[in-house]
Amino acid sequence: MQRAAAGVLRAARALLYERHGEPSAVVQLKDIEVPKLGDTDVHVKMLAAPVNPADINMIQGTYATLSPLPAVGGNEGVGEVLEVGSRVAALKAGDWVIPATSGLGTWRTQGVFPEQMLLKVPRDIPMLCAATLSVNPCTAYRMLADFETLAPGDSVIQNAANSGVGQAVIQIAKASGIKTINVVRDRPDLPKLVERLTALGADHVITEDMLRKPEMKDVFKSIPKPRLALNCVGGKSTTEMLRHLQPKGTMVTYGGMAKQPVMVPVSAFIFRDVRLRGFWMTQWRKEHEQDQHSVATMMDALCQLIRRGQLTAPACTQVPLQDYQEALEAAMKPFTSSKQILLL
Ligand SMILES: NC(=O)c1ccc[n+]([C@@H]2O[C@H](COP(=O)([O-])OP(=O)(O)OC[C@H]3O[C@@H](n4cnc5c(N)ncnc54)[C@H](OP(=O)(O)O)[C@@H]3O)[C@@H](O)[C@H]2O)c1
Repeated sequence: MQRAAAGVLRAARALLYERHGEPSAVVQLKDIEVPKLGDTDVHVKMLAAPVNPADINMIQGTYATLSPLPAVGGNEGVGEVLEVGSRVAALKAGDWVIPATSGLGTWRTQGVFPEQMLLKVPRDIPMLCAATLSVNPCTAYRMLADFETLAPGDSVIQNAANSGVGQAVIQIAKASGIKTINVVRDRPDLPKLVERLTALGADHVITEDMLRKPEMKDVFKSIPKPRLALNCVGGKSTTEMLRHLQPKGTMVTYGGMAKQPVMVPVSAFIFRDVRLRGFWMTQWRKEHEQDQHSVATMMDALCQLIRRGQLTAPACTQVPLQDYQEALEAAMKPFTSSKQILLL
């Protein structure tokens, strides 16, 4: 490998795709050149990066935003700063950084990125928390804060509650005294999953089938009907979840894992005046580029929760970079219940 004058390695390994398609077919581990450091650039050694559904959709070419090809996969992760350009003031060698925007291409051993594409995170949080901080916990935080004014004792219902976002919702809500009703798909090892989510702070964990049952009344003996529903799935799951929303409550759709449209009974609009909204973290970041105060407030709040042990990394499997095919495959399988995190 080439060495620059400063003694820093100038070649990296990266998971690259040159065309869109199924990840197992188009993603390859390749050597790539690390570009020269510009005045406002930062040279980063990547430490760990998860495989998220949006990364898969970007590779498939089905996501709302696509990186120019050839592209390095991955939008989330944590890295350590090796070197900074002469006009970089806010970062120094040794700092930990995470992506400030999407499209960074985090599945690489090292890279040179413009300073404004990075956000400094404290080094006293666990590496796996930092690697999974910029997308899912931020999404959970915003959805709990921005759509309904929730007070301790209020409740929230969500589907795909075992997803990365879902686990963050459970923990952030718990820390604020908000009750959660968590919907998951039935599976052979359901009791284990219920136990895991309950240990995170879930008040109720129910299957999609249970949403339709009269026993749901029992849930609402101890907690109020939810003012907020978080929809990651679409299709039937969403229609059933919506039944339990309070009149004038809000359902926020942020994922479409079932690849089915959201169907809403007319009666939900006429007799309960429910509000249907959507959320996209990428858009929120774009709209808050000049509002560093809101970004810092959110990141500080999340790091505080992590330090207090109230927000942990999602259940995960750590995978060495060379075994990336296993990680891609596992990330696309149903009922995996474990975030694949590439060790770089
Ligand atoms: N809008 C935003 O800003 C934003 C931000 C972050 C994430 N997201 C989206 O949120 C979703 C979850 O992301 P994540 O990183 O949290 O995912 P994740 O940790 O990989 O979990 C995926 C979840 O989807 C569920 N699932 C998969 N296929 C399903 C199906 N056909 N029907 C119902 N549930 C299904 C899985 O449940 P099983 O265990 O039952 O398979 C699991 O709960 C993705 O769609 C992602 O793109 C959106």
